[in-house]
Order: sequence, then C-alpha cells, then structure tokens
Amino acid sequence: MEKLNILVIFGGCSTEHSISCASAAAVLSHMDTNRFNPITVGITKDGVWLRYTGPYELIDEGSWFSSRFCSPCTLSPNRNNLSICTGSGQRERFDAAFPILHGKNGEDGTIQGLFELIGAPLIGCGTLSSAIGMDKNLAHEIVSCHGVSVPKGIVLKCGLPPSQVLEAAAAVGYPLFVKPICSGSSFGVSRVDTPEQLIGAAELAFRHDSRVLIEEAVPGFEVGCAVLGNDHLTVGAVDQIELAGGLFDFKEKYTPVTSAIHCPALIPDSKANEIVETAKVIYRALGCRVFARIDMFLRPDGEIIFNEVNTIPGFTAHSRYPSMMAAAGIDFTSLVTKIIELGVG
Ligand SMILES: Nc1ncnc2c1ncn2[C@@H]1O[C@H](COP(=O)(O)OP(=O)(O)O)[C@@H](O)[C@H]1O
Ligand SMILES: [Mg+2]
Repeated sequence: MEKLNILVIFGGCSTEHSISCASAAAVLSHMDTNRFNPITVGITKDGVWLRYTGPYELIDEGSWFSSRFCSPCTLSPNRNNLSICTGSGQRERFDAAFPILHGKNGEDGTIQGLFELIGAPLIGCGTLSSAIGMDKNLAHEIVSCHGVSVPKGIVLKCGLPPSQVLEAAAAVGYPLFVKPICSGSSFGVSRVDTPEQLIGAAELAFRHDSRVLIEEAVPGFEVGCAVLGNDHLTVGAVDQIELAGGLFDFKEKYTPVTSAIHCPALIPDSKANEIVETAKVIYRALGCRVFARIDMFLRPDGEIIFNEVNTIPGFTAHSRYPSMMAAAGIDFTSLVTKIIELGVG
C-alpha cells in the first residue's frame, strides 16, 4: 500500500502558538511512518508559512523557525493538484491536510476553509463546526436548542459604558465569569466575585476579542469527554478537573501545581455514561467530525452543563484528549492512525 502524504501544519498566528508546536511535535513523534509520510509546515507567529524538515524536538521547543531546516513555501490553490511549493520551486504533493493549530486562525474555521476550498481531505472538524466551536456564545445557542443546559450569559460588545457592563453583570448575578467569546487556553478569562472586579476583568477580556461573554459561575467542577468519529462515535474515559483556585488558568492547564486532573473522573459510572451521551449530542449538534473534546460542568445537584468544544484539543503526550483515550485503551500511535483514517475517510 502506498504511503499517504499528510500535510501537518503547526504554529500559527495565535496566542496558543507554543501549545500548537508542542501538540504537533507529539503527534508527529507518534505517527506510524510505515503508513504515513508527514510533510511538516510551520506557520510563524507573523503568519509566514515555512516548510520544515528538521527534528521534532525543535518544534516542541518552539525554536524550529530560526533553524536551517526551514524554507518558505506556498500552498497551491489548484484543486486537481494538492501540493505545496517551496522556495526552490520544488513541488510536494499531499493527500490530506492535518492542521494541529489551536485558537484563532487555526481552530476557528479559517484554515479549514482554505483546505475545503482546494478540495483537500481535512483531518479534523470542517469550516462551519470549527467556526461555531470557536464562538462560545453561538455554540451555547445551538447546543441549548438540542436540549442540553448551558450557563446563563449575556454578550457585551466593545465600547459599552461601564454602567451598562455593571447592569449586565447584575442581571447574570455574582459570582460570574467574564471571557472573550473567541479565545482559548484561558487567555482573558476571569472569575469575578464582586462588582469592583468587573471593569478590570472586562477590559482584560476585550483585549482578546471585540465581544465578551458575562456568564454565571457554575458550581461543581469541569468534566471533559474525548469524542472520535464521524457517524459511529468512540469516546475516551470522562475526566474531571479538580481546582484549588477559581479557574483552570493557562499555568495550571500546562503545568498543574494546585489543580489535578482525574482520569477517569471520580464519579459513579452512571453519571459518566450520562456525560458521554451528552457529549455525543453536543458533538453531533455542532456538526463535529473526526475528533473534538467536549467540556462540560457537573453541578453538585448532578446537572450537566455545556461549557465549550475544543475542535483541535491539546495533543501533547500529557494532554487531556490523548490521556482520556489512553484510559479507554487507545494508545497515542493508534489514536493518531485512527484520526488520520477518519479524516481521509
Ligand atoms: N461559567 C463558568 N463557571 C465556572 N467556571 C468557569 C466558567 N467559565 C469558565 N470557567 C473556568 O475558566 C476556565 C476557562 O474558561 P473556558 O470557557 O473553558 O475558556 P478556554 O477556551 O480559554 O478554555 C474553565 O476551564 C473553568 O475553569
Ligand atoms: Mg476551556
């Protein structure tokens, strides 16, 4: 069987550039090279596309772009000839595109649209579900139409006078969360316990997006479900985030000190099954394909509340998605193989 050439794209113009590099390095190191030939392209923080042919360690460290293994490259827009063209004029053909990018310009439908435009099989969610998944408010609206509870929230547009921001917060009630509608890795997210903290939190969130969500703080804890598949869905073990502070912030997500991730979650099997069924409803409602991680809250009264979908979840060897799949008996290499097979479809 001929090897499939997989265009793996990493980095990107996003606040989550470094996480993307770490995810891509892990995926590349676990790719079955008997079946797949990775063609690695990094996008710098400034948006320059570079064909990268060096060791994966430099991707992981984030120093890949300044190495001698890089050369400028472009993507051909032709549908009948999926290929990239490097500076030397050399063409490299690929069979499918695998964006391992997090956040804006990578997980939000933009690059997915580019590959759909040129007719490239996409390993991951498509343009529409990626775009909806990136918009926390729109995702809530769609999911709530499918009978799943979402936190009470109000959307604020940039430029509102502080009095109206305070009014919106009073309507939601304290404690609450203020977050950019489109962001990730907890950038710009704050827990607000009193009105005095509100304006500073809103200003921080507006640095990341022109729209901000004010949302009731859901009591209980966050749970996640890794979903894999197109029509038939496979799921990982449900996990549970135990927090000491008010939120799972950037530092705790990538180097946990005060928080802990329990995988499988420390909850009865019946509740874990209910979470899995809810995650499947959400995955289908949002039109996801190939893979996504669905994050929810489990309230003390047992109610499951949707938080957000990550259409390209963190993919380092310690990340939640591969850990949830490992706990369900799917090792990292088999997981990468299944993801590529589902994407190439
Ligand atoms: N409504 C909420 N209730 C309780 N905790 C929340 C709420 N919204 C966000 N959080 C906390 O903030 C973290 C980051 O928020 P989230 O909406 O998941 O954004 P991101 O896309 O950056 O992960 C969550 O992991 C959770 O700990
Ligand atoms: Mg989150």
